[in-house]
Amino acid sequence: MDRILIFGGSGMLGSKLLEMGEDIEWIAPTHKALDLHDLDAVETLILETRPRAIIYAAGIARPMEAETNPEEAYFLNTNCPGRIAAISNHEGIQFCYISSNAVFDGLPATQDGYREEDKPFPSSVYGKSKYAGEQATLAYAITLVPRAINIFSSTYTQRSDFVRRLITGWSNHKITTAITDEFINPIYSSFAARSILYLVKNRYRGILHIGGSDILSNRDFVRLLADKVAHFVPRPVLEEISFATWKARTGNANRSPALSTQRYLALKEAPHLPASAESIDAFLKDYDFTIAA
Ligand SMILES: NC(=O)c1ccc[n+]([C@@H]2O[C@H](COP(=O)([O-])OP(=O)(O)OC[C@H]3O[C@@H](n4cnc5c(N)ncnc54)[C@H](OP(=O)(O)O)[C@@H]3O)[C@@H](O)[C@H]2O)c1
Repeated sequence: MDRILIFGGSGMLGSKLLEMGEDIEWIAPTHKALDLHDLDAVETLILETRPRAIIYAAGIARPMEAETNPEEAYFLNTNCPGRIAAISNHEGIQFCYISSNAVFDGLPATQDGYREEDKPFPSSVYGKSKYAGEQATLAYAITLVPRAINIFSSTYTQRSDFVRRLITGWSNHKITTAITDEFINPIYSSFAARSILYLVKNRYRGILHIGGSDILSNRDFVRLLADKVAHFVPRPVLEEISFATWKARTGNANRSPALSTQRYLALKEAPHLPASAESIDAFLKDYDFTIAA
């Protein structure tokens, strides 16, 4: 059985990886059992358990949290995974660092999506700490970096995500701003976890983009979601605006960039990446609408 050590196994993505990897012997220390700030304890655990692979799904995953606590963001998203990658390299263990579309600034907006070979240009503290994390871990040839975009869950209760926030807002008759010139390819957590596990099990290395197979504007994704949940929550009133208007109104200069998934899609045996409609349908099978009411 494949023995895999995962950091961040209680997180939104990490918990889904554990759920999907039934055929894996997981070592999944909780935050409480092992604080990643204790790098000596991290090293001891690796040496004692000798996993075949390590997945780093921990860190500061919310951009606002990174802005308010950049030191913690750089420790958990850059320095700590860099150190674990060095240990992994020394011990011959595959290392997987989950990165983010935030390594690109989305300017100019591209409907084709950023490719793996495009030069990152992060604008937020979160994006900068993730890009630095990529560089620190990709310094070692054993490293795999799946770059993911807008993962959403139906069941993870520790924190919400943009899809569940939209639905909750619509239940409360909230007007939704929908950006016409921001392009995204969100993915439901089960699909993202399945694809990442495939890459780890098959010992891929380097960067691969994971996201929905279709790229659509923020407005079109919001419209699609509204259509699909129309039986359960009131139809939302959408205010369609440009990114420039959104930026002037909120001061938020970070445009969410879509990722091209062509390189992953060319892998012959890999599990397929869903289009947005399929991701939303899978979400709806598991989602409890009474929570949003
Ligand atoms: N969610 C997305 O849309 C998305 C998209 C692209 C990339 N990513 C990346 O994917 C990874 C996982 O994201 P996520 O959404 O699953 O994040 P999450 O739900 O916030 O999970 C973060 C995990 O890190 C753990 N953790 C935080 N500080 C720790 C510490 N000091 N010691 C030990 N464990 C610690 C947390 O444990 P506790 O909860 O117990 O504190 C939790 O298990 C992140 O690296 C993120 O950048 C996420």
